[in-house]
Amino acid sequence: MWGGRFASGPDAIMEEINVSIDFDRRLYRQDIAASKAHAKMLAKQGIISAKDAKSIGQGLDAILAEIEAGKFTFQRALEDIHMNVENRLSDMIGPAAGRLHTARSRNDQVATDFRLWVRDSIDALDTAFAAYQLALAEQALVYADTVMPGFTHLQTAQPVTFGHHLLAYVEMAARDRGRFKDARKRLNESPLGAAALAGTSFPLDRDMTAKALGFDAPMANSLDAVSDRDFVLETLAAASIAAMHLSRFAEELVIWTSPLSGLVKLSDKFTTGSSIMPQKRNPDAAELVRAKTGRIVGALLGLLMVMKGLPLAYQKDMQEDKEGAMDALGALALALAAMTGMARDLVPDADRMKAMAGSGYSTATDLADWLVRTLAMPFRQAHHVTGRIVKAAEAAGVPLERLPLDVMQKVEPKITKDVFKVLSVEDSVRSRTSFGGTAPANVRREARKWLQRLAKQKPAKQKK
Ligand code: ARG
Repeated sequence: MWGGRFASGPDAIMEEINVSIDFDRRLYRQDIAASKAHAKMLAKQGIISAKDAKSIGQGLDAILAEIEAGKFTFQRALEDIHMNVENRLSDMIGPAAGRLHTARSRNDQVATDFRLWVRDSIDALDTAFAAYQLALAEQALVYADTVMPGFTHLQTAQPVTFGHHLLAYVEMAARDRGRFKDARKRLNESPLGAAALAGTSFPLDRDMTAKALGFDAPMANSLDAVSDRDFVLETLAAASIAAMHLSRFAEELVIWTSPLSGLVKLSDKFTTGSSIMPQKRNPDAAELVRAKTGRIVGALLGLLMVMKGLPLAYQKDMQEDKEGAMDALGALALALAAMTGMARDLVPDADRMKAMAGSGYSTATDLADWLVRTLAMPFRQAHHVTGRIVKAAEAAGVPLERLPLDVMQKVEPKITKDVFKVLSVEDSVRSRTSFGGTAPANVRREARKWLQRLAKQKPAKQKK
């Protein structure tokens, strides 16, 4: 491509460190779309002839078909996707191919291609997030009444409903989708036409190419257009937070399916056996979702390190933006699919959940609240009284709802048998009707709200 000035070919090691076709071939669709938009615009502006633009367009379509049919030979000697496509175009249509690169550089080309690729990935992820939310919301409705132990410090805290617990992840996923949407909004401006770094003397119509590629506008500064990768970083930051959420859910599945708690069962679809211990049922998929978070966050940190010392404008360092990001977004898509599958697959052990929910005096707060409500006791005093009653129950070796009334009355004479209405785990969750609380009625309402919302959402924008 630059044979004019170079006497010999590159050293083998030079080629090896320089080559990016092994991974940037994944940009072929975006690369061809951007080239088609560019050629059309060049013709409309009278920079190249309509005839050349037409044969360029047809050639690019033919190349797209070749690649999709698996008939294209990618050449490492041609370095990257941009030169592979251009070289093939020249084989196909001859000298007219050489006009495509007028008023363009690989610098604005790669920035454009990768923006488009990240945008497509965000759109695909959004669809996957919706499927994940749907699975969770449907299960939340099924398990709206299922009482489970709620934990803080991984100690039994208060009873909650399993549906409520699942809906917590629906809310997190909604914010994750919002973060990707925000990133998409900011990335959706076109670098194309910034050329190498300074813009060009040709009379481009950058609005035209921006519009053709679905961008909101052309980027306003040519140096910025070719040299920032904040759109990748922002997407990876959103991916990292989303992966962290999935990882927490995955960790809960590991805990819930362990015999240590035995709260949930996963089927053979999402577990594996052991090669030596026949009884084993290992939650490998959940463990791997937990682990994928490492490479996703790693991609974010890796690219931050690549970018932090780079002066403007394009530096070859930036070629390192792709592998990590492609790997990370692929890993997130896989993790999401796995969690969606497990969300549908999981079956809670309702009896065990209920028994564990009631252990550890988890309704002590309900007793304290009853003292406040019925006897107008200040909460701090109620807390103290309840503590003494829990101590008595512990000494008697019974749960609160089986502690005889007279024992309670020894601590607080004004307690009546009415108190037994609030001490069971079902009573406890049913009473938590405050907005955002765990009451089954709340859970049903929220789950239905999500199901309606998700049904209304249009499938994500079509791929360009
Ligand atoms: N493969 C390169 C990349 O991914 C394309 C841009 C090359 N530009 C250049 N001036 N060498 O960054």
